[in-house]
Amino acid sequence: MSDPVPARLVVLISGSGSNLQALLDAAADPAYGATVVAVGADRDGIAGLDRAAAAGVPTFVDSVKAYPSRDDWDAALAEHVAQYEPDLVISAGFLKLVGERFLAGFGDRYVNTHNALLPAFPGIHGPRDALAYGVKLAGATLFFVDAGVDTGPIIAQVAVPVFSDDTEDTLTERIKDAERRQLVECVGRLVREGWTIKDRKVTIP
Ligand code: GRF
Repeated sequence: MSDPVPARLVVLISGSGSNLQALLDAAADPAYGATVVAVGADRDGIAGLDRAAAAGVPTFVDSVKAYPSRDDWDAALAEHVAQYEPDLVISAGFLKLVGERFLAGFGDRYVNTHNALLPAFPGIHGPRDALAYGVKLAGATLFFVDAGVDTGPIIAQVAVPVFSDDTEDTLTERIKDAERRQLVECVGRLVREGWTIKDRKVTIP
């Protein structure tokens, strides 16, 4: 029997793209069941775009300031993503909140990886905020994006210890290491096995 057609992933990034790289590496194995068909960014000149290019994956950049309004940007981003007919859209360090148009198109299949154990420490400084609070466990959360800030149904979480001599950088790297493994494992399971969401509870059969 031939392999099933791989699921189509569009990955959105704003930075170094190490999570993207982990997905690209995993997808090189046909057994993974998914392929990255495009990478989108909200800015030029980031290492993640170079990683996509090196892997031969098409890229596009939609900068908010290139559009007359935030809604126009949101509609353009939704249109560009739609052109690649994704089965799953992954925000992997994408530092923009999408709007109504995007969520109308992809809200049922748009996931984000966040570098904190939600609902604690939403927003863009997860590791810094966790360290400042003095928690002993930090981690990463993969969730389906909804209209709130880091509030959607949780797919998976992974915890890492916080050490007394941690800096924001050392904790961030420890989290990212666990985060990448979680992302690769869960995205693979989502596309191969499907999922349901009931009363915020995400189940992968
Ligand atoms: C991740 O830790 C993500 O949770 C945070 O930004 C980081 C992105 O890293 N929002 P990279 O660009 O994938 O290396």
